[in-house]
Amino acid sequence: MVVLAAAIVTKSGKAVISRQFREMQRSRIEGLLASFPKLTSTGHQHTTVETEHVRYVYQPLEELFMVLITNRQSNILQDIESLHLFARVVTDICRSCDEQDILRNAFELLCAFDEIISEGYRENVNLAQVKSIIEMESHEERIQEIIAKNKEQEAKEELKRRAKQFEMQKKEAQKRGQGFMQGNFSSQGNYMGGRFSPALEPTVQTTIDSPAFNSRSSTPPASSGTKARGMQLGRKPKSTDLFEAIKTEVEEPLLKSSRSAASSTITKEVEGLHVWIEERVSMAANRDGGLEQMEVRGVLTLRVGDAANARVRLTLQAADDPAINFKTHPNVDKNAFKNDKMVQMRDVSRPFPVQQNLEVVRWKFSTRDETAVPLSINCWPSPAGDGTCDVNIEYELEADHLELRDVVVSIPLPAEPAATVHSADGSYFVDRQRRVLDWQLPVINSSNKSGSLECNVPGEDANGFFPVMVSFVSERLICDVDVIEAHNLETDSPAQITKEILLAADDYTIG
Ligand SMILES: *[C@@H]1O[C@H](CO)[C@@H](O)[C@H](O)[C@H]1NC(C)=O
Ligand SMILES: *[C@@H]1O[C@H](CO)[C@@H](O)[C@H](O)[C@H]1NC(C)=O
Ligand SMILES: *[C@@H]1O[C@H](CO)[C@@H](O)[C@H](O)[C@H]1NC(C)=O
Repeated sequence: MVVLAAAIVTKSGKAVISRQFREMQRSRIEGLLASFPKLTSTGHQHTTVETEHVRYVYQPLEELFMVLITNRQSNILQDIESLHLFARVVTDICRSCDEQDILRNAFELLCAFDEIISEGYRENVNLAQVKSIIEMESHEERIQEIIAKNKEQEAKEELKRRAKQFEMQKKEAQKRGQGFMQGNFSSQGNYMGGRFSPALEPTVQTTIDSPAFNSRSSTPPASSGTKARGMQLGRKPKSTDLFEAIKTEVEEPLLKSSRSAASSTITKEVEGLHVWIEERVSMAANRDGGLEQMEVRGVLTLRVGDAANARVRLTLQAADDPAINFKTHPNVDKNAFKNDKMVQMRDVSRPFPVQQNLEVVRWKFSTRDETAVPLSINCWPSPAGDGTCDVNIEYELEADHLELRDVVVSIPLPAEPAATVHSADGSYFVDRQRRVLDWQLPVINSSNKSGSLECNVPGEDANGFFPVMVSFVSERLICDVDVIEAHNLETDSPAQITKEILLAADDYTIG
């Protein structure tokens, strides 16, 4: 079964879009599509035509055609089913299936096509899955758009408010008989404060005392240009000038922050306090269930959004296990951490650096104790005597406090990328490129701790089915590290903090 290309063509055989799944020259695909209309007969809902070398499987899409070009050995029933899925994806993405609309959505369409066929082979997906994959990808983008729009709106309102304020201050100054602009700009009050403070106070950012923290990535110091901007002294400002002057000031940081928000989360601008708590677990177990080594490495990264929150103390929790080896950054108070699990500066009168990602605590936990393993996997291949093996594989959640998500157990397919699955919890599919059977379990938690899969696979060498690789993520950590309280030492009051917690399996293998 090989699908060579999926295309949308006009009635005259011009390609509107085409995705080739096998290496093919442009002239070849254009030629194939150009000769397609001559072969078709109208009036059928969908049909197929064959030439000496290829088969076309097609159906009309309003004034256009959805066409799959396959080789002649391809399974025609499966191709017709794939064709339906392609057509449904297209009508789902495009409102009206005319050439304009197809072109407008070309990127989305090609992304979706790639989810249906890979390297010429049909993926085990349905319309809902294709949609959710595509939506997942654009979900983040949409969130960023909403954030940018909100910021724009806020900036506009801020602009109006400040223009009004300037107007009032100008009048007042005139009443007092002094030119407004001759005064001391920065002593005019804290109209710069408020929501925009991190972005609008470049002086705070550049003069902040930053100790030699290893920041994984940090925003470059704010450009001095922002500082210099504003109003020129001695010039009598007209109100429109004022508006313009503030406008650049407000918009500049706006651009800056939306740009950084679009990049990875780890460099995002945060207001207030934010922590990332991440753990990576690697494990090597042998086939008999014995544990060779398990290692967990964690890091807690703090980002302080603005100077008002920079003198802060975090109180952590963690699993009570002396085998977990914690290390704090040299500028963090070692004893406060050791005795009370508190993270604060060694000299509490000093602030944490602002707008930098600070790795304040790291930890490592390694063990050969089998009871510490979060998820155990048992894989039993037994030769069936006919050149195949019956493979039984089961999992069990050992760490009841965890909820593992997006679990994928990959079993190598040594002889051929094929498997006959007799029974399975969850879902599975054969990845021909990687030559593995991927067994997928969306959620494993204490109310659904174990499951199994039974299949028959070509190949009689039982060793060929190892190593089994496992991947998963979780929002609870193995060492159970979390921030339970943030306290602002400046105001001696609780501080708001946002958190992202993630455990990911890095190199989790059996056999
Ligand atoms: C101008 O601001 C500086 C720094 O805030 C302050 O020390 C100074 O007294 C102010 N001058 C006037 C005239 O307000
Ligand atoms: C348990 O998990 C498996 C795999 O994710 C799933 O197929 C099954 O429906 C779940 N059972 C319950 C009761 O949630
Ligand atoms: C386990 O996961 C299932 C499916 O997401 C959920 O319905 C159930 O409440 C979870 N159980 C626990 C104990 O969290």
